[in-house]
Amino acid sequence: MRTPPLGVFGGLSGERQGAQESHGVAIGGALYARSVVPDPFADLASRFVDHYKTLRGIVRAELVHRQLEEHLPNGSLLVADVGGGDGRQSVRLASLGHTVDLIDPSQEMLERAQKAIAQQPETVRSRIRLIDASAEDATETLGTDRYDVVLCHGVIMYFQDPAPLVGILVSLARPGEGLISLVAKNAEALALRPALQGRWEDALKVLDLDRDVGGLGVVTRGDPVESLTRLFSEAGASLVDWYGVRVLTDHLTDLPPPPNTTNVVELEWRVGSRDPYRRVGHLIHLIARR
Ligand SMILES: C[S@@+](CC[C@H](N)C(=O)[O-])C[C@H]1O[C@@H](n2cnc3c(N)ncnc32)[C@H](O)[C@@H]1O
Repeated sequence: MRTPPLGVFGGLSGERQGAQESHGVAIGGALYARSVVPDPFADLASRFVDHYKTLRGIVRAELVHRQLEEHLPNGSLLVADVGGGDGRQSVRLASLGHTVDLIDPSQEMLERAQKAIAQQPETVRSRIRLIDASAEDATETLGTDRYDVVLCHGVIMYFQDPAPLVGILVSLARPGEGLISLVAKNAEALALRPALQGRWEDALKVLDLDRDVGGLGVVTRGDPVESLTRLFSEAGASLVDWYGVRVLTDHLTDLPPPPNTTNVVELEWRVGSRDPYRRVGHLIHLIARR
């Protein structure tokens, strides 16, 4: 069966389309580098950000944060949020006392992040730096900076080939102790969402594929836990733990949070860390150490 091409970022990984030129501009303590490449996420930004108002979005945000927190060492950490989007993880971590570089090539997303950061107290604002760069350009843009924690949540599914991105994330982590927190789409559970929604033909179509039309309406790619684990190992990092995210709520597409959302999150938290449930989470969250 022919595999469909990826949605918005299909050609960017490893073979960037067109030349990129950028220059830094300081805005209120944040470093922006205005890019001349069209923003591939501009049309998807509001749809993506809006999903955080639904039960699925809340489950994702709460679980990923809680799973990450399980592994964070004590003290104030230096964090890179690669593809950090509208800044919600960065703001949350900066509010906990960490210093965060949010790296993203989307002007639309960076502007949203800038607005969210502007609403924070000065102590939080001063701990976040916005950097206009793609993951592919991150090493060059950031120079020799290495991080205690490197986040990359919901980005790898837009890459044709996951290997170069995993290599970049590992290279950004501090040797010997740096953690990488990677959220990917689970290639092994793609048929569950359409099946639980009664879309049987769609479920049959994606059963043997590694990609499908994601929640934003574009084709995105999934990875199995084992192949990401192998990519980490080839890049010089080892898997510490992995979790399933949205095991039970993924198919409830636009459902707003019900009054008992805390219990839903608690249930998702508990099934997300045990077999066999975590295997069928729509998203997988891997924690690796360099
Ligand atoms: C689905 S959003 C995830 C945002 C955030 N990490 C979260 O979990 O809420 C994907 C993000 O990846 C960014 N992105 C797209 N291409 C990228 C690339 N080549 N390098 C780094 N980030 C990229 C997009 O601009 C967007 O902000």
